[in-house]
Amino acid sequence: MKVVVTGATGQLGAATADAWEAAGHDVIRFTRCDLDITDYAAVRRVIGAAAPDVIINCAADNRVDAAESSPLPPLAVNALAVGSLARLSADLDATLVHYSTDFVFDGETDRPYLETDLPNPRSVYAMTKSLGEMLAVDAPRHYVLRVESLFGGKTGGSSIDRLWAALSSGQPVRAFSDRVVSPSFVDDVVLATHRLVERQAPAGLYHCVNTGHATWFEVIDHLRQLGGYPRSLLSALRAADTNVPAPRPLFAALSNSKLLRAGIVMPTWQDAVAQFVSKRWRG
Ligand SMILES: NC(=O)c1ccc[n+]([C@@H]2O[C@H](COP(=O)([O-])OP(=O)(O)OC[C@H]3O[C@@H](n4cnc5c(N)ncnc54)[C@H](OP(=O)(O)O)[C@@H]3O)[C@@H](O)[C@H]2O)c1
Repeated sequence: MKVVVTGATGQLGAATADAWEAAGHDVIRFTRCDLDITDYAAVRRVIGAAAPDVIINCAADNRVDAAESSPLPPLAVNALAVGSLARLSADLDATLVHYSTDFVFDGETDRPYLETDLPNPRSVYAMTKSLGEMLAVDAPRHYVLRVESLFGGKTGGSSIDRLWAALSSGQPVRAFSDRVVSPSFVDDVVLATHRLVERQAPAGLYHCVNTGHATWFEVIDHLRQLGGYPRSLLSALRAADTNVPAPRPLFAALSNSKLLRAGIVMPTWQDAVAQFVSKRWRG
């Protein structure tokens, strides 16, 4: 298949392009320099000329806090540009893959969210991502995959990567004991995406997270133990102790049961963290 990947230097974009190429597909990578997805005319001209079978949109403006005071850039990238990619996908008869986030939920629950639960975004960033989900459906063959706390890409910029780097160099770290997450290991997200597209699973919205959920503290403690680092390096932090412009959902666990019904088994978050550690040790 001919596959276009936007945001190809990002954490997910780079891993996606590498994996689809390794699987023998004809991959065209677009970085922001090559193609700004908010330039609708250029998107139509450049991607239209490539005539791909699949467009995988990994481009996003993830500056969650900056979005509160500067909403237009994330609105353009996370929402309006998705609408133009969706309409283009429809015209080209291409499959559109787009990624969203757990932040579309308010976090005021006590059981993992399902795809049928209604979003209630609490921040500007979350609103732009929620709008992007709505606009993606203009592509008849769309997969909107909600991921969460992505980690383990080559860029190494995720929270888990940064905490791992700190632990590895003997620095103390703090992790939230009252924020619940279902993290998404990049390699597992890439594989799940590939399977959905190749098997032509029903189009729609899927939660693409590792199986299970835990507090950030539990996730980082697991990471610490796998690394053999002392317990004294880790201490607990509560959301109320921090002062950030954008509110985050407290209980943000997502259920991946719909993905499972499509025949795609996501490893547990503990297995994913173990895979991450062995990947980092291999260098
Ligand atoms: N990271 C997470 O924890 C997380 C959590 C939930 C959902 N997600 C979603 O998962 C997807 C992948 O995230 P990620 O972590 O891989 O993000 P990332 O590492 O920040 O990569 C985003 C990429 O998009 C590019 N980009 C930004 N604006 C663009 C534009 N106008 N035109 C073209 N490219 C543009 C960036 O280029 P530059 O580097 O040049 O800016 C970057 O390469 C996104 O949809 C994100 O919202 C991520």
